[in-house]
Amino acid sequence: MEYSVFQGRSFLAEKDFTKAELVYLIDFAAHLKALKKQGIPHPYLAGKNIALLFEKTSTRTRSAFTVAANDLGAHPEFLGAGDIQLGKKESVKDTAKVLGSMFDGIEYRGFSQSAVETLAQYSTVPVWNGLTDQWHPTQMLADFLTIKEHFGALEGLTLAYVGDGRNNVANSLLVTGAILGVNVHVVTPESLFPEEWVINLAKDYGKDSGSEILITSDIPQGVKGADILYTDVWVSMGEEAETKARVELLLPYQVNQQMVQATENDNVIFLHCLPAFHDQETLFAKKIAEEFGITEMEVSDEVFQAEYAKQFQQAENRMHSIKAVMAATLGNLFIPRV
Ligand code: CP
Ligand code: NVA
Repeated sequence: MEYSVFQGRSFLAEKDFTKAELVYLIDFAAHLKALKKQGIPHPYLAGKNIALLFEKTSTRTRSAFTVAANDLGAHPEFLGAGDIQLGKKESVKDTAKVLGSMFDGIEYRGFSQSAVETLAQYSTVPVWNGLTDQWHPTQMLADFLTIKEHFGALEGLTLAYVGDGRNNVANSLLVTGAILGVNVHVVTPESLFPEEWVINLAKDYGKDSGSEILITSDIPQGVKGADILYTDVWVSMGEEAETKARVELLLPYQVNQQMVQATENDNVIFLHCLPAFHDQETLFAKKIAEEFGITEMEVSDEVFQAEYAKQFQQAENRMHSIKAVMAATLGNLFIPRV
């Protein structure tokens, strides 16, 4: 008898799971967070080996998968872009077959969504998407866990995402919010509107969940009434050639105190998947300041340091939620029905 609808499944995109399943994973993450805080062991993956494949850099995702795997009693093995044959001397398909014969689960962060899909197809073990150019699904579990922790519920809230409207995080927020019944506003210049098929996918989910989708370049209209103001970097990994164009386009869309006031909501919170360019403490930010004369990018330091800014709670939640998805899909847990 199959005890878990999750066992053996991959998490390649948010649409891989139903609303009930996503809610289950978010609540399971909250449970695992409580166990961790109370020092109660939860070694659901004892004896398992986990491959962590990273073609792009990472602080949170890598740390979250590593610590979560250790807490679950598994052994994580980091395989960086420069360390293995993938891409240079070996195809994704052949790599998948080899890793699948040795590891029990695989995390993949990289460029193409088709690569993570090929890994899942040919490895025959659960594969978890740690970010591609198209989606960032594990980020979503942490984000909506953070929102639920703060507001106590999800349905009916309004999230305004302001910034680059066609990156992985924008796509994922649109679709996940729509599945979960959270209204999502993407506030971005017209040339950065999300792709039509992503908007349509979100709108289709919205018909079932009641989530309203708004894509607009009008800042006051887009942020008014928002419960959550969310932004991400203007230049995603791999798009560095776009820097000049993005700075010019997105400067008016910086999340600052004026924009927070434009929500007309005293209880609004700020979220950011991180890393963030809010000060002059990074090489990239210094280069931007030299070239464009701006010292803050997608979020002002004032907002980033404010009490209503929850990005570090959100970052911690990456670990608890990644732990939930690994345990649910690989731990032979008793999860009879969702
Ligand atoms: N939010 C996020 O994915 O962070 P990293 O790039 O540091 O993993
Ligand atoms: N959109 C960003 C997210 C980083 C977590 C990027 O892809 O670089």
